[in-house]
Amino acid sequence: MKVGVLISGRGSNLKSLLDACATPDFPAQIVTVISNRPGAGGLDHARAAGVAAETIDHKDFNGREAFEAEVTKALEAAGVDLLCLAGFMRVVSAGFVRHWQGRMINIHPSLLPLFPGLDTHARALEAGVRLHGCSVHYVNEEVDGGPIIGQAAVPVLPGDDPAGLAARVLTAEHRLYPACLRLVAEGKVRCRDGRVAISADFDPSERLFSPPLED
Ligand code: GAR
Repeated sequence: MKVGVLISGRGSNLKSLLDACATPDFPAQIVTVISNRPGAGGLDHARAAGVAAETIDHKDFNGREAFEAEVTKALEAAGVDLLCLAGFMRVVSAGFVRHWQGRMINIHPSLLPLFPGLDTHARALEAGVRLHGCSVHYVNEEVDGGPIIGQAAVPVLPGDDPAGLAARVLTAEHRLYPACLRLVAEGKVRCRDGRVAISADFDPSERLFSPPLED
Protein backbone atom coordinates (compact mmCIF):
# COMPACT_ATOMS: atom_id res chain seq x y z
CA MET A 1 0.00 0.00 0.00
CA LYS A 2 1.39 3.38 -1.01
CA VAL A 3 1.07 5.92 1.78
CA GLY A 4 1.28 9.71 1.74
CA VAL A 5 1.78 11.59 5.01
CA LEU A 6 0.72 15.17 5.75
CA ILE A 7 2.54 16.99 8.54
CA SER A 8 2.83 20.49 9.96
CA GLY A 9 5.70 20.25 12.41
CA ARG A 10 8.26 18.14 14.22
CA GLY A 11 7.08 14.87 12.68
CA SER A 12 7.77 12.39 15.46
CA ASN A 13 4.72 10.35 14.41
CA LEU A 14 5.91 10.47 10.82
CA LYS A 15 9.26 9.12 12.07
CA SER A 16 7.51 6.21 13.80
CA LEU A 17 5.69 5.40 10.54
CA LEU A 18 8.91 5.67 8.50
CA ASP A 19 10.69 3.35 10.95
CA ALA A 20 7.84 0.83 10.80
CA CYS A 21 7.77 0.91 7.00
CA ALA A 22 11.51 0.21 6.96
CA THR A 23 11.06 -3.08 8.83
CA PRO A 24 10.96 -6.31 6.80
CA ASP A 25 7.52 -7.38 5.56
CA PHE A 26 5.73 -4.19 6.65
CA PRO A 27 2.73 -4.01 4.31
CA ALA A 28 2.96 -0.28 3.53
CA GLN A 29 5.45 2.09 1.99
CA ILE A 30 5.59 5.86 2.46
CA VAL A 31 5.97 7.40 -0.98
CA THR A 32 5.63 11.09 -0.20
CA VAL A 33 5.52 13.53 2.72
CA ILE A 34 3.96 16.97 2.43
CA SER A 35 4.15 19.78 4.98
CA ASN A 36 1.96 22.85 4.91
CA ARG A 37 4.65 24.69 6.87
CA PRO A 38 8.08 25.45 5.44
CA GLY A 39 10.92 24.17 7.60
CA ALA A 40 8.85 21.55 9.43
CA GLY A 41 11.24 19.19 11.21
CA GLY A 42 9.42 16.17 9.83
CA LEU A 43 10.64 16.97 6.31
CA ASP A 44 14.16 16.07 7.46
CA HIS A 45 12.97 12.70 8.82
CA ALA A 46 11.47 11.93 5.41
CA ARG A 47 14.58 12.92 3.48
CA ALA A 48 16.82 10.97 5.87
CA ALA A 49 14.71 7.91 5.07
CA GLY A 50 15.04 8.56 1.34
CA VAL A 51 11.39 9.56 0.96
CA ALA A 52 10.29 12.46 -1.25
CA ALA A 53 9.32 15.46 0.89
CA GLU A 54 7.94 18.83 -0.11
CA THR A 55 6.27 21.90 1.32
CA ILE A 56 2.96 23.11 0.00
CA ASP A 57 2.47 26.27 2.03
CA HIS A 58 -1.22 26.97 2.63
CA LYS A 59 -0.35 30.69 2.81
CA ASP A 60 0.55 30.65 -0.89
CA PHE A 61 -3.06 29.85 -1.86
CA ASN A 62 -6.23 31.80 -2.10
CA GLY A 63 -8.43 29.71 0.18
CA ARG A 64 -8.56 26.19 1.57
CA GLU A 65 -9.87 24.49 -1.59
CA ALA A 66 -7.06 25.79 -3.79
CA PHE A 67 -4.47 24.62 -1.24
CA GLU A 68 -6.10 21.21 -0.93
CA ALA A 69 -6.37 20.79 -4.71
CA GLU A 70 -2.61 21.21 -4.94
CA VAL A 71 -2.06 18.72 -2.12
CA THR A 72 -4.33 16.15 -3.79
CA LYS A 73 -2.57 16.68 -7.11
CA ALA A 74 0.82 15.98 -5.50
CA LEU A 75 -0.48 12.94 -3.61
CA GLU A 76 -2.06 11.47 -6.72
CA ALA A 77 1.07 12.12 -8.77
CA ALA A 78 2.90 9.98 -6.19
CA GLY A 79 0.28 7.21 -6.53
CA VAL A 80 -0.93 7.46 -2.92
CA ASP A 81 -3.53 4.84 -1.87
CA LEU A 82 -3.83 5.88 1.78
CA LEU A 83 -3.32 9.27 3.36
CA CYS A 84 -2.02 9.54 6.94
CA LEU A 85 -2.37 12.82 8.81
CA ALA A 86 0.44 13.02 11.38
CA GLY A 87 0.34 16.27 13.30
CA PHE A 88 -1.26 18.02 10.32
CA MET A 89 -2.75 21.09 11.95
CA ARG A 90 -5.12 22.29 9.20
CA VAL A 91 -8.81 21.51 9.29
CA VAL A 92 -9.67 19.79 6.01
CA SER A 93 -12.69 20.77 3.91
CA ALA A 94 -15.73 18.58 3.25
CA GLY A 95 -14.65 18.25 -0.38
CA PHE A 96 -11.20 16.98 0.62
CA VAL A 97 -12.78 14.51 3.04
CA ARG A 98 -15.13 13.23 0.31
CA HIS A 99 -12.26 12.84 -2.13
CA TRP A 100 -10.22 10.75 0.35
CA GLN A 101 -13.22 9.08 2.02
CA GLY A 102 -12.19 5.74 3.54
CA ARG A 103 -8.58 6.39 2.48
CA MET A 104 -7.54 9.01 5.07
CA ILE A 105 -6.60 8.36 8.70
CA ASN A 106 -5.44 10.64 11.51
CA ILE A 107 -3.85 10.40 14.94
CA HIS A 108 -5.32 12.52 17.71
CA PRO A 109 -3.87 12.95 21.22
CA SER A 110 -6.89 11.94 23.30
CA LEU A 111 -9.21 9.02 23.88
CA LEU A 112 -11.89 10.15 21.44
CA PRO A 113 -14.68 11.11 21.59
CA LEU A 114 -13.26 12.91 24.63
CA PHE A 115 -11.34 16.09 23.92
CA PRO A 116 -11.52 16.66 20.17
CA GLY A 117 -9.68 19.78 19.02
CA LEU A 118 -6.69 21.47 20.63
CA ASP A 119 -5.01 21.50 24.06
CA THR A 120 -6.12 17.96 24.80
CA HIS A 121 -3.62 17.34 27.61
CA ALA A 122 -4.47 20.47 29.59
CA ARG A 123 -8.17 19.70 29.12
CA ALA A 124 -7.70 16.10 30.32
CA LEU A 125 -5.95 17.36 33.47
CA GLU A 126 -8.65 19.96 33.99
CA ALA A 127 -11.37 17.29 33.66
CA GLY A 128 -9.59 15.05 36.17
CA VAL A 129 -9.64 11.88 34.05
CA ARG A 130 -7.45 9.02 35.34
CA LEU A 131 -6.78 7.61 31.88
CA HIS A 132 -5.79 9.63 28.84
CA GLY A 133 -4.28 8.59 25.54
CA CYS A 134 -4.50 8.72 21.79
CA SER A 135 -6.72 7.53 18.96
CA VAL A 136 -6.23 6.65 15.31
CA HIS A 137 -9.38 7.18 13.29
CA TYR A 138 -10.70 7.57 9.78
CA VAL A 139 -11.26 11.20 8.89
CA ASN A 140 -14.82 12.30 8.25
CA GLU A 141 -16.41 15.72 8.03
CA GLU A 142 -16.57 16.14 11.81
CA VAL A 143 -13.30 17.38 13.31
CA ASP A 144 -11.69 14.41 15.16
CA GLY A 145 -15.02 12.61 14.82
CA GLY A 146 -14.47 9.73 12.38
CA PRO A 147 -14.67 5.98 13.03
CA ILE A 148 -11.99 4.85 15.51
CA ILE A 149 -9.46 2.22 14.40
CA GLY A 150 -7.36 2.01 17.55
CA GLN A 151 -6.65 3.66 20.86
CA ALA A 152 -3.90 3.54 23.48
CA ALA A 153 -4.37 4.65 27.07
CA VAL A 154 -1.84 5.98 29.56
CA PRO A 155 -2.41 6.78 33.23
CA VAL A 156 -2.66 10.34 34.45
CA LEU A 157 -0.23 10.50 37.37
CA PRO A 158 -0.19 12.74 40.43
CA GLY A 159 1.77 15.89 39.69
CA ASP A 160 1.38 15.63 35.91
CA ASP A 161 1.51 18.85 33.94
CA PRO A 162 0.37 19.14 30.31
CA ALA A 163 3.92 18.75 28.95
CA GLY A 164 4.65 15.62 30.99
CA LEU A 165 1.33 14.07 30.09
CA ALA A 166 1.85 14.94 26.42
CA ALA A 167 5.21 13.17 26.46
CA ARG A 168 3.65 10.02 27.96
CA VAL A 169 0.87 10.06 25.35
CA LEU A 170 3.35 10.68 22.54
CA THR A 171 5.22 7.49 23.45
CA ALA A 172 1.94 5.64 23.06
CA GLU A 173 1.22 7.43 19.76
CA HIS A 174 4.48 6.14 18.34
CA ARG A 175 3.36 2.55 18.97
CA LEU A 176 -0.30 2.97 18.08
CA TYR A 177 -0.02 4.66 14.68
CA PRO A 178 2.26 2.05 13.05
CA ALA A 179 0.10 -0.75 14.52
CA CYS A 180 -3.05 0.79 13.05
CA LEU A 181 -1.38 1.46 9.70
CA ARG A 182 -0.40 -2.20 9.58
CA LEU A 183 -4.00 -3.31 10.23
CA VAL A 184 -5.33 -1.00 7.51
CA ALA A 185 -2.64 -2.01 5.01
CA GLU A 186 -3.28 -5.70 5.68
CA GLY A 187 -6.96 -5.17 4.95
CA LYS A 188 -7.94 -6.18 8.49
CA VAL A 189 -9.93 -3.00 9.07
CA ARG A 190 -13.38 -2.58 7.60
CA CYS A 191 -15.47 0.53 7.89
CA ARG A 192 -19.23 -0.09 7.98
CA ASP A 193 -22.03 2.26 8.97
CA GLY A 194 -19.58 4.71 10.49
CA ARG A 195 -17.88 2.09 12.67
CA VAL A 196 -14.70 0.12 12.32
CA ALA A 197 -14.62 -3.67 12.46
CA ILE A 198 -11.21 -5.29 12.91
CA SER A 199 -10.37 -8.86 12.00
CA ALA A 200 -7.35 -9.46 14.17
CA ASP A 201 -6.59 -11.63 17.16
CA PHE A 202 -6.53 -9.81 20.48
CA ASP A 203 -6.09 -11.28 23.91
CA PRO A 204 -9.37 -10.41 25.68
CA SER A 205 -7.70 -10.86 29.07
CA GLU A 206 -5.61 -7.75 28.58
CA ARG A 207 -7.03 -4.88 30.61
CA LEU A 208 -5.62 -1.60 31.78
CA PHE A 209 -6.61 -0.13 35.12
CA SER A 210 -5.48 3.17 36.55
CA PRO A 211 -4.93 3.19 39.48
CA PRO A 212 -3.77 -0.44 39.41
CA LEU A 213 -6.01 -2.95 41.16
CA GLU A 214 -4.84 -4.32 44.51
CA ASP A 215 -4.73 -8.13 44.70
C1 GAR B 1 0.86 14.67 17.99
O1 GAR B 1 0.68 14.60 19.39
C2 GAR B 1 -0.45 14.43 17.28
O2 GAR B 1 -1.27 13.49 17.91
C3 GAR B 1 -1.06 15.81 17.34
O3 GAR B 1 -0.01 16.70 17.11
C4 GAR B 1 1.21 16.09 17.56
C5 GAR B 1 2.17 16.10 16.41
O4 GAR B 1 3.44 15.67 16.83
N1 GAR B 1 -2.12 15.96 16.40
C6 GAR B 1 -3.19 16.72 16.59
O5 GAR B 1 -3.37 17.37 17.60
C7 GAR B 1 -4.19 16.71 15.45
N2 GAR B 1 -5.47 17.12 15.92
P1 GAR B 1 4.49 15.16 15.77
O6 GAR B 1 4.63 16.25 14.71
O7 GAR B 1 5.76 14.99 16.56
O8 GAR B 1 4.00 13.87 15.20
